[in-house]
Amino acid sequence: MYFPDYRPRRMRRTENLRRMIRETSLSVDDLIYPLFVVPGKGVKDPISSMPGQYHFSVDELVREVAKTKDLGIPAIILFGLPETKDEVGSSGYDPDGIVQRGLRAIKEEVEDIILITDVCLCEYTSHGHCGVLKGDEVDNDATLELLARQALSHVKAGADMVAPSDMMDGRVSEIRRVLDEEGYAHIPIMSYAVKFASAFYGPFREAAQSAPSFGDRRGYQMDPANSREALRETALDVEEGADIVMVKPAMAFMDIICLVREEFGLPVAAYNVSGEYAMVKAAAEKGWIDEKKVTLELLTGIKRAGADMILTYHAPDVARWLKEI
Ligand code: PBG
Repeated sequence: MYFPDYRPRRMRRTENLRRMIRETSLSVDDLIYPLFVVPGKGVKDPISSMPGQYHFSVDELVREVAKTKDLGIPAIILFGLPETKDEVGSSGYDPDGIVQRGLRAIKEEVEDIILITDVCLCEYTSHGHCGVLKGDEVDNDATLELLARQALSHVKAGADMVAPSDMMDGRVSEIRRVLDEEGYAHIPIMSYAVKFASAFYGPFREAAQSAPSFGDRRGYQMDPANSREALRETALDVEEGADIVMVKPAMAFMDIICLVREEFGLPVAAYNVSGEYAMVKAAAEKGWIDEKKVTLELLTGIKRAGADMILTYHAPDVARWLKEI
């Protein structure tokens, strides 16, 4: 079919024609909203590196989650900033830790929204690495038990799903084993299966006070240059029992989202991370781009690449914008 018989513009003339041939649509159902919980009462402090995002104390967090639910967003993911940090991240698996307290409070007040927790030690260790150290390196196998303990304590406090983001080898099977043994076989695991060592996490590390005090995360997070390795990482997590596999970050890795979608039958999540959010916010503040249009275009691209769900700090904005359209 060639011009002049086929004229693609014929189907683009009006919005109704465009709607008829639209292949990808963004929905509030696709959104997961990341939130940060901190100690204290009545705290809602703006996070300077992420305009529009806040540190919430437990009481304020409960209100924010209620608002998120009212917008129709199906899930949140929770990150915690603890009172204390130590070498082994013990405040991360303390039954009375900040995330655990947040979960219990939300469960009491808000029904019917999925509570996901980020499982990782970096917010809880004094050195800021994602596991325990042996010399200057993160000890993979010694970390597994602590991650499983953290996941279990989240679930006991009310988490509906756990999301390990540490990138230790074997953590999905260890968490699965412990949850099953303790009677939580019904709790799904969303694994950060393909997590790259990315500079786009910068604003988050400021928000979560989780930057490593020495070195970097390249010894456990993936090299952004690799796509075949991304498939090996995903295959491992699928075998170990992941229910959802995540690719992170999203924008510079849409080809990876596409590959993972094609190779595996599991639902795919994409994390539209802090640096991606901050770039859009900064350019919009300067009046250089239209925040709403650019955000919807980016998220539609992430969906078109193959993501079934998107973790994004823009979730409440998007939920509102989609109602306006
Ligand atoms: C914890 C974790 C990080 C993010 C999610 N979980 C930071 C990191 O790996 O350094 C980043 C999220 C974002 O940038 O929005 N390991």
